[in-house]
Amino acid sequence: MPASTVDIKIYLEKIKNLIESKLQRYLPSDDIEPKILHEAMRYSVMAGGKRLRPILAYSAFEYCGGNVDGDDLAIHYAMAALEMVHTYSLIHDDLPCMDDDDLRRGIPTCHKKYGLAAAVLAGDALHDVAFNLLASTGSTKVVVELAQALGTAGMIGGQIADVEAEGKDVTKEDVINIHTRKTGALITASVRIGAILGNASDEQLTNLTKYGEKIGLAFQIIDDILDIEGDTGTIGKPVGSDVELGKATYPKAVGIEQSKIDAQKLITEAVALVDKFDDNVLIELAKYIGQRNN
Ligand code: IPE
Ligand code: IPE
Ligand code: MG
Ligand code: MG
Ligand code: MG
Repeated sequence: MPASTVDIKIYLEKIKNLIESKLQRYLPSDDIEPKILHEAMRYSVMAGGKRLRPILAYSAFEYCGGNVDGDDLAIHYAMAALEMVHTYSLIHDDLPCMDDDDLRRGIPTCHKKYGLAAAVLAGDALHDVAFNLLASTGSTKVVVELAQALGTAGMIGGQIADVEAEGKDVTKEDVINIHTRKTGALITASVRIGAILGNASDEQLTNLTKYGEKIGLAFQIIDDILDIEGDTGTIGKPVGSDVELGKATYPKAVGIEQSKIDAQKLITEAVALVDKFDDNVLIELAKYIGQRNN
């Protein structure tokens, strides 16, 4: 493989700036009522984060030949929608009835700052703004794509399985099943939505779907590893939360060393699924996911 001409750090920064500006633009203003809810939504969304899902959508869009010139493009609506539903999932994931965490993206969780009712409703409202944006793309396909990825066959199904598995013995297959749904489904959908908006060929869409599934599972395995070996200052959320709750994690099923091996294997497999041209960002993104420490 030729040496990559992409400096992934510069690329990530560039697309992160783009998504931040779109989020600022598309989130409801906190000057408008209900101000407290709009403030809570902005608090959690604008707190930062890696913005990985919109970055994946953008990169898949470009990979398939999508035109990125212009303002308020369908891909921009989709990117903002993906980050909003992701943030909604984090707000709800942190609630006392779920993972009961106090820190997210380096600041107090939404419910700690605004109370339970506002946090539940801010999450709900982010979901609604996201679907409004997605409908503005004019593509029914991408609306269906996200609805299915988030629903009971996807993220929500994974989240209830995750809660139900607390304190139980789990096999590797059980954990893969949970992780594929609670995290993999939205990551795969992010790649697919970018590809669909970029008019991917059938072959591109098939390969990018597999790519998304592999990086999605690797992403959650590494999240589980960081919950053990990470540093709160770097990951911006509490370390040790999973063990405390007896969560069904990949390291719990196979051990930490095997988890690292399996995550790297998935990254290698994902890289093999995309075309090898020397400024292919999807290759660098997969490697970045494999090496991340936050
Ligand atoms: C955290 O997602 C939740 C998981 C699915 C593991 P991220 O690690 O992408 O969180 P942010 O968006 O960077 O804060
Ligand atoms: C969260 O998984 C998955 C979703 C939010 C859908 P985790 O519970 O492991 O995520 P963190 O570690 O709290 O970010
Ligand atoms: Mg959770
Ligand atoms: Mg959690
Ligand atoms: Mg976690």
